[in-house]
Amino acid sequence: MNTSSSFSQRLIDWQRQHGRHDLPWQVKDPYSVWLSEIMLQQTQVAAVLDYYPRFLEKFPTVQALAAAPQDEVLSLWAGLGYYSRARNLHKAAQQVVGQFGGTFPSERKDLETLCGVGRSTAAAISAFAFNRRETILDGNVKRVLCRVFARDGNPQDKKFENSLWVLAESLLPSENADMPAYTQGLMDLGATVCKRTKPLCHQCPMADICEAKKQNRIAELPRKKTAPEVQTLPLYWLIVRNRNGAILLEKRPAKGIWGGLYCVPCFEKLDDLYAYAERFGIVSDGLEEQTMFTHRLTHRLLMITPFQTQQRPSEHLSDGLWVSSEHLADYGLPKPLIKYLAKG
Ligand code: ADE
Repeated sequence: MNTSSSFSQRLIDWQRQHGRHDLPWQVKDPYSVWLSEIMLQQTQVAAVLDYYPRFLEKFPTVQALAAAPQDEVLSLWAGLGYYSRARNLHKAAQQVVGQFGGTFPSERKDLETLCGVGRSTAAAISAFAFNRRETILDGNVKRVLCRVFARDGNPQDKKFENSLWVLAESLLPSENADMPAYTQGLMDLGATVCKRTKPLCHQCPMADICEAKKQNRIAELPRKKTAPEVQTLPLYWLIVRNRNGAILLEKRPAKGIWGGLYCVPCFEKLDDLYAYAERFGIVSDGLEEQTMFTHRLTHRLLMITPFQTQQRPSEHLSDGLWVSSEHLADYGLPKPLIKYLAKG
């Protein structure tokens, strides 16, 4: 058996015996597969298990999703993070309806034209829903390949990345019918056995062909990416309530942090918060500074300082919305705001 058929056959056999079989998105419906793959980008399976069924219940078809207002989509996504995914998801649903007559295309290249669908995600949908011989290559799969085939290179180098795509394509099984098990096997092996730290090599179906293991280089491969610089960003929140106890929210601009979500008035400069409050007749003496807390995003560390006030501003001055506590859950709010408000 040559290395590639040995690799794919080992993986398929292992997946059938030891892989994950009860994930709710292990179905043939391309809409469900696509939704799960977008949710699973940069997000743990456990979190997606919670959000996925609620989302499907609310939007059972691509038509239902395409026709929904963006706010409804964002509010169901709130808490999953990386909100551009939700905005792209909504746009992609409209593309499927508008450009593909409401039926998901099966070709990887067509799937790649959908907003938010890159090569690996397109391949996953094509393989899972249509049994196409297309390879995925996400971070977990790169780790598996770099180890099994002792590929040593800078993960940020395009040429190296391309060489991994070529390798991944050369490993595909010959039978279309094996594609779902093979693709799930790549994911399962990377997530549960060939882990970044403390890999479980004794459970690995590749243990006796793994070059990194043979060369004692498991800890060294894959090479680490240079850590992204984390920028700190101070943010100031204005927490204002009207006489009924409703809180003032504004829709965030589409681009940038928490794009499209609802948030309390939020400023990068304290002076802007004061100027805004003054428009409501709230004087700076009436603003009470709360304890600053931090919230980590991928490339940024937010240092959030909320300001509360006992003053009751005139409501008609606002462009925002007054939302009572019992209706907050109807809006997509950033996670740190939900947490902060829950503390009372
Ligand atoms: N990560 C990305 N896609 C996945 C899938 N289909 N199952 C489990 N984890 C995944």
